[in-house]
Amino acid sequence: MIDLSKYHLEKYNVPTPRYTSYPPANYFRDDITSEQAEQIIFQSNSEKPENLSFYLHIPFCSRNCLYCGCNTIITRDKNRIDQYVNSLKNELSIVANLIDSGRKISQIHWGGGTPNFLPVEYVEEIMSLFKQRFDFIEQPEIAMECHPAHLTYSYLDRLIEAGFNRFSIGIQDFNSRVLETVHRDDTAIPVEDLVFYLQQQKKLSVNLDFIYGLPFQDVASFKNTIQKAIKVNPARLAVFSYAHVPWIKKAQKKLEQFGLPGSHEKITMFLTAHGLLTDAGYRDIGLDHFAKPNDELTEALESKALHRNFQGYSTRVTTGQVYALGTSGISQLNNAYLQNTKDLKKYHAMIEQGHLPVVRGYVLNKNEKIIRYVIDELMCNLHLSWDKTAAYFDTTPKAIKEITRNSDEQLSEFQNEGLIAFNNHEVEITQTGKFFIRNIAATFDPLMKTSDKKFSKAL
Ligand SMILES: C[S@@+](CC[C@H](N)C(=O)[O-])C[C@H]1O[C@@H](n2cnc3c(N)ncnc32)[C@H](O)[C@@H]1O
Ligand code: SF4
Repeated sequence: MIDLSKYHLEKYNVPTPRYTSYPPANYFRDDITSEQAEQIIFQSNSEKPENLSFYLHIPFCSRNCLYCGCNTIITRDKNRIDQYVNSLKNELSIVANLIDSGRKISQIHWGGGTPNFLPVEYVEEIMSLFKQRFDFIEQPEIAMECHPAHLTYSYLDRLIEAGFNRFSIGIQDFNSRVLETVHRDDTAIPVEDLVFYLQQQKKLSVNLDFIYGLPFQDVASFKNTIQKAIKVNPARLAVFSYAHVPWIKKAQKKLEQFGLPGSHEKITMFLTAHGLLTDAGYRDIGLDHFAKPNDELTEALESKALHRNFQGYSTRVTTGQVYALGTSGISQLNNAYLQNTKDLKKYHAMIEQGHLPVVRGYVLNKNEKIIRYVIDELMCNLHLSWDKTAAYFDTTPKAIKEITRNSDEQLSEFQNEGLIAFNNHEVEITQTGKFFIRNIAATFDPLMKTSDKKFSKAL
């Protein structure tokens, strides 16, 4: 297990952006109109990457997990779900009319909420609409985030028939006391059977999600959970630090009565999981993802071709500009971010009037695109070449350094602390530096020099 010093932890376990986008979503502006959003989507046809990546947000869940930081609606009301699916289809049609039909789909990601809480025929209908409107690249990634409480073999078979080839399943922990405390429903099929079925019988890829930092978790219990996960043998795992943001997610406050693990316990849980997973042959991808050595994410990391968006990591082959559908979805285009309204009523009303349901967003200037690229390279590939970045943006390394307002003094400080190695041409993140990658990235972000925003802690 890597031993992080008390010095590093005290200095760097501070609130820091997660950088799933640059600028982070709390910098988005709310003066973007649907008409502007339409123009931005239309213009994205002449931007790179050419591939289309769709994100569909399904907000519905059957029960509220108390830790949840996602955008959810707890309901079992079939009419509400029917109405939503109807609006989603209309939204797809509005967006598809703005996109060149010659562009191909490389990814479709269904997230939530709990997409597999939808009746499967609705998923099939929406997938057929995509197939009617667009062609696909040869091996597209069609993925769904699933809650195992609603996964049955017949449901899975129909998803596979509709083209799904990646399944990300929320486990969070195998300890029943932890799961009961956070109001998490039990799995319909034992997780080991589910993963065996998808990976061994259907030859598809499975990711399992875990969270550390919840009530009643400690180093010993989380060690058991990760040991069990290793036995289950998924191709990928995500081990997330519990983001406690009760000022945004009121239900999280309820967890405080049970006591939350302290910073030191939490970090030791992560380092223990990290040690177990890497000893078992998994490669760490970014801060919190792990993949088998022959997984394409690992291969992309080794060839410095890893990329990331709100939906997670991807390879350069499948990466596209992301077009989001559904409440709260965020489109990630080369020039801009566009976020849909989180308000269900407003979402339906805007689509009924034929408008895109976009209410927030951010248009990036050239300097911000450079900063985004630099942060992306550091966060994904743990490496930055000033020369390659300058060539990509047709400018000089000196200009890139000025735009990211990074200084040799700051880099020397990280180097003396063992977090990076650098010279005039490149910056390389070390094994220890990986754990503080968000802190390192933040020093390349001029916004952080004057930020008044709130973020969760780095680890
Ligand atoms: C949309 S959910 C996955 C699908 C399904 N709804 C489920 O819960 O199984 C996405 C993932 O986000 C993670 N997550 C949710 N709230 C979180 C929080 N507050 N901090 C860290 N991770 C969180 C969980 O690991 C969860 O599996
Ligand atoms: S963790 Fe998943 S199932 Fe639970 S409330 Fe959040 S999105 Fe819904």
